[in-house]
Amino acid sequence: MDPVSVTVRVPAKVNVQLGVGGLRADGFHDLANVFFAVALGDEVTATAGEPGAGVTLSCTGPDADAVPLDGSNLAARAARLLAARHGLAEPDVHLHIAKAIPVAGGMAGGSADGAAALVACDALWGLGTPADTLLELAAELGSDVPFALVGGVALGRGRGEILEPLPVTGSYHWVFAVADGGLSTPAVFRECDRLREEAGTGSGDAEVATPDADPALLAALADGDAVALAAALANDLQPAALSLRPALADTLRAGTAAGALGALVSGSGPTCAFLAKDAEGAEAVAAALRASGSCRTAHATHGPVPGAAVAAGSPGIVVPGPGA
Ligand code: C5P
Repeated sequence: MDPVSVTVRVPAKVNVQLGVGGLRADGFHDLANVFFAVALGDEVTATAGEPGAGVTLSCTGPDADAVPLDGSNLAARAARLLAARHGLAEPDVHLHIAKAIPVAGGMAGGSADGAAALVACDALWGLGTPADTLLELAAELGSDVPFALVGGVALGRGRGEILEPLPVTGSYHWVFAVADGGLSTPAVFRECDRLREEAGTGSGDAEVATPDADPALLAALADGDAVALAAALANDLQPAALSLRPALADTLRAGTAAGALGALVSGSGPTCAFLAKDAEGAEAVAAALRASGSCRTAHATHGPVPGAAVAAGSPGIVVPGPGA
């Protein structure tokens, strides 16, 4: 019989390099986006719904109030998109999101939930969708969704959806400083364009060179060299995030003063990411950030970790007990 409930664990991401090209005619920017999956993650549980209930959502976690529980949520859109691809009518499924990834924080939390919902519904409905079809559906949902399926470390080209897994050695220790309130990704890209216009360099894709992955950063990852990785961390959206949220400079300074090897804004922000020497160093940086008053809270974590996958201990196929 089919499972009645499937739980999928999915990682957040930090961009260890985010090279942003010019604004394209379709409103996106070409990227050289080195994604890195971290253990700080969400869990999405898909449970068969009552007939006619449609797609329903619930969410728990410190930021649950900021998560939209309507049809715009990427997890709900993912369930409907997967069902449509298989020619299924409006599905009846409840999606529960156990949220640990900061909301609108530049860590692709919404995208992660979309990826997790694809995997959870695929298992719940016994569809066995091929990986390349799941990746195609993920790219339709958003630029960061495919990476949440793949995990590890990968170079994202195009708008970030064309992925090439990258070799990486060892485990790295990270700290994420969570800000009060989020930043809108489109607003940060717009600010990046505005700053480029203001600087006189232009912001179109004919004026801005197509970005490329930094060879020093790729070598650091392959060698397992945290000091070299820290030196190569780069985010072209950082000036825009700092322009919209100047107080982030204090957060970056506080983590660096506490001994982080390197610091940058995560994606479009406002979460700030710090690379630490080891697990102990990460705990110390997180404690110093919490005490600094320059962020709402700080989490120590590690990576890389795999992409969205059915959680160990997820009920999977549930055999009804006697009398059920
Ligand atoms: O793909 P996604 O829906 O996550 O993108 C959200 C917004 O971020 C886009 O509408 C666009 O404004 C901006 N974006 C961009 N270039 C990218 C990815 C996102 O300009 N490569």
